[in-house]
Amino acid sequence: MAPFATLADPGDCLNVDGTTAFHVHGPRVVPTNTEFFLIHERPVEHSFHPQLPPNVLWGYDGSIPGPTFIARSGTPQLVRFVNDLPENDPVGIGEPISAIHRHGGFQAPEDDGYPLDTFCTGQSRDYFYPNRPDAGLLQSEHSTSWYHDHAIDITAVNVYRGLAGFYLYKNSLDTMNELDPPPALGLPSGEFDIGLVIQDKLFDANGFLVFDSFDHNGFLGDKFLVNGIIQPFLRVARRKYRFRILNGSNARVYQLFLSNGQPFVAIATDSNLLEHPVTVKSFVLSPAERVEVILDFSRSSLGDEIFLVNRLEQDDGRKPAGLVSPGTPLLKFVVSRDAADPSRVPDTLLPVTQGPRELLPQVEVERTFKFERSDGAWVINGDFFDENRISAKPRLGRPEIWTFESGGGWVHPVHVHLSEFFVLSRDGEAPPVLERGRKETVLVGGDFNREVKILIRFQEFLGRYVFHCHNIEHEDMRMMAQFETQP
Ligand code: C2O
Ligand code: CU
Repeated sequence: MAPFATLADPGDCLNVDGTTAFHVHGPRVVPTNTEFFLIHERPVEHSFHPQLPPNVLWGYDGSIPGPTFIARSGTPQLVRFVNDLPENDPVGIGEPISAIHRHGGFQAPEDDGYPLDTFCTGQSRDYFYPNRPDAGLLQSEHSTSWYHDHAIDITAVNVYRGLAGFYLYKNSLDTMNELDPPPALGLPSGEFDIGLVIQDKLFDANGFLVFDSFDHNGFLGDKFLVNGIIQPFLRVARRKYRFRILNGSNARVYQLFLSNGQPFVAIATDSNLLEHPVTVKSFVLSPAERVEVILDFSRSSLGDEIFLVNRLEQDDGRKPAGLVSPGTPLLKFVVSRDAADPSRVPDTLLPVTQGPRELLPQVEVERTFKFERSDGAWVINGDFFDENRISAKPRLGRPEIWTFESGGGWVHPVHVHLSEFFVLSRDGEAPPVLERGRKETVLVGGDFNREVKILIRFQEFLGRYVFHCHNIEHEDMRMMAQFETQP
């Protein structure tokens, strides 16, 4: 069995300073332009489908998915999360212990949702988000992130119970207003800019949510949800839309197509806009990955129905079984009206000024991390997660090459906190076109490849961060390690 003995018991909910006070952080000094938010984590009755009974989920502010944050570049935010989750929960899915990670965000170690920095029922914790691009670089302006529970050992079940939401950013180029003149990009905005989180969940015969905490391979559902609703529909106008698509599933990998064969115009991967839009017939989305697409319904007729379809079948946590046809419809678009479309999709979105060409000659350090199964749990380079071990000490400003390897045919979506990296190669070949932008989560293994090389550089924030498999069952069963940035 996997060793757990070296770990602190998250149940004691000690604060960083060793106390158990209500606020995990004492008073903090923040810039005067900081925006403040107060979010309560609490139970909420949720309807997945009109034919199913309401289920009690856990939501940030009781919302499924959680409320969408919009950050403006240059305006910091301080979010106080209050844990109002019940200590004795009749449903038995989830633990009322929290750590909140803004996935894709650049924030200090104490604000990163480090898995052992937990807070319990009746406590709160403040998270400070600077909301400035890494090292002030325009190419690092962010687009779509998300936030979710990250408490040690129980992340999977807490995310499954509902603790996840979008965190969006706007900046001088991506202003989130299609009417803004250049240099604003003019991407579809307002009601035509929609986040879609895709998840799978399992239900019992009575329509109540089921979870298996002993499935360490990767928990899969048999129902597919978009924004918390099983196979919903969306009425759309005959014009362009921006969809920010997030795989918020615990372990399932999707490959998304449109039922009418129409391609997607992809504009962003993970947290960053691409340099140029890329047209693809389909794309693979592993847990925690995001792809943003522009869909143009202007050539559809009123009454047309177009489905967003997953054609990748997967029956266990090991890896997807392969493509099937016609696949499973996830979301139905019903073209139901006309609307003006002043939006634009420029040829250049977010220019990359410091990419592999500039950074590769500076690389002096290479590291390899092997993601493997061991004793029914999961290891990186042979080790289970241990908060006392630091596996890498990268220096700020120094690009490095990291190689991720997967053993035994399993897939592992590998996520590195505090990073936006470039995928250099998959099994020595150039990565697929949608992996040539910035990434912070990359799928390794299975039929996709055995090894992925990335170019990674940390620029700001000193301290300890985690990287891990984002198949959350693997993560909870120890497939996580730490790096500590050095001056
Ligand atoms: Cu989505 Cu370590 O996180
Ligand atoms: Cu994994």
